[in-house]
Amino acid sequence: MTGFANHFATEAVAGALPQGQNSPQQVPYGLYAEQLSGTAFTAPRKDNQRSWLYRLRPAAHHPAYRPYARETLLRTGPFGEVPPTPNRLRWDPLPIPAQPTDFVDGLVTLCGNGDAATGVGIGVHLYAANRSMERRAFYSADGELLIVPQQGRLRIVTEMGVIAAVPRQIVVIPRGVRFRVELPDGAARGYACENYGAIFRLPDLGPIGANGLANPRDFETPRAAFEDDDAPFEIVQKFGGTLWTTTLSHSPFDVVAWHGNLAPYRYDLGAFNTINTVSFDHPDPSIFTVLTSPSDTPGTANCDFVIFPPRWMVAEHTFRPPWFHRNVMSEFMGLVHGSYDAKAGGFAPGGASLHNPMSGHGPDRASYEAAIGADLRPHRIEDTMAFMFESRHMFRPTRFALDTPLCQLDYDDCWAGFRKAQVPQASGSTGDDNT
Ligand SMILES: [Fe+2]
Repeated sequence: MTGFANHFATEAVAGALPQGQNSPQQVPYGLYAEQLSGTAFTAPRKDNQRSWLYRLRPAAHHPAYRPYARETLLRTGPFGEVPPTPNRLRWDPLPIPAQPTDFVDGLVTLCGNGDAATGVGIGVHLYAANRSMERRAFYSADGELLIVPQQGRLRIVTEMGVIAAVPRQIVVIPRGVRFRVELPDGAARGYACENYGAIFRLPDLGPIGANGLANPRDFETPRAAFEDDDAPFEIVQKFGGTLWTTTLSHSPFDVVAWHGNLAPYRYDLGAFNTINTVSFDHPDPSIFTVLTSPSDTPGTANCDFVIFPPRWMVAEHTFRPPWFHRNVMSEFMGLVHGSYDAKAGGFAPGGASLHNPMSGHGPDRASYEAAIGADLRPHRIEDTMAFMFESRHMFRPTRFALDTPLCQLDYDDCWAGFRKAQVPQASGSTGDDNT
């Protein structure tokens, strides 16, 4: 079903979806009606998201949760255990595990900000897995999950239907929606942004107009699909930054019909209508925003999901790659495919980098030298798909992120050795009063 955050109605069995009301006295087939809310009941109508699910058993039907295995807890956070660092950080790709590892056990928290308990900030996770989740499901009570596959196809069975995704597609799973990740082609790796703040939405387009960037019609939501399976099933949830587990007597994927505007979706990054300069200067990367989670301060996002897709570069008399910068916003970057135009090496597909507020960064020396000497004919950047989770909140790396041998200790060196600019002697010395 297509369209961004549409009000969908879908049933896997004819007649399962109640008509005319949400909660009839007798639901068809004896199904249980359940509301899943993604926003507060009284959120403004333009922001309000909720769906009604009709299922074989209520989701409330489960025993108590208990803490999940300790070794996994250590890999999934918390991100407040070490002080935030002003240093620029970069990581090599997470290796595919040697032992059988599914999506849940293959999750590693690299950094995060804000606090799930107060609904602010994001968590940034990596996953590397080599087997399907079998009889178990996962969900985050802390935030919606934006999954960015980097290697390997995913088949994600959710309560609200099945989504397949390949690298260069993304999948967003609402907070609380239970899912199971299957790996039809074997090993898989990628990134996940866990959004504790306002639900991701499409950015306003301002003077761009009514069309452009990620167009609403290109977002896809699955039809209802369910399992009638009465064998034990484990559920792992992330709650307050840690993992909890319980065992159901049945599959949680028992939603026969649903309607509403809160649902998982898929988006193909290749459908992004990239807009850029046709005159001069490199625009701010906000021009590449796919989805945004706004904060209470206009234009200052809890998280922007930004991509750097294949595109034409035509800017005249311009330094075309990203310029040097020190920003208020914090930037976590990943690379799905190819290379990134501000780095000549060291930033590999599956790798990551982190630049916190006011940390100076930009092109490495090799990229800089190449760009100032480049012939400025129209040039197409091919074979690339980098992305950024940009946030108003300072990221805190986990202990894992700082201790892992994947963390590149020589990252600063890529900005070493720039030649000093030569200027003529002038009167504007800092010793003068030049107010
Ligand atoms: Fe940056």
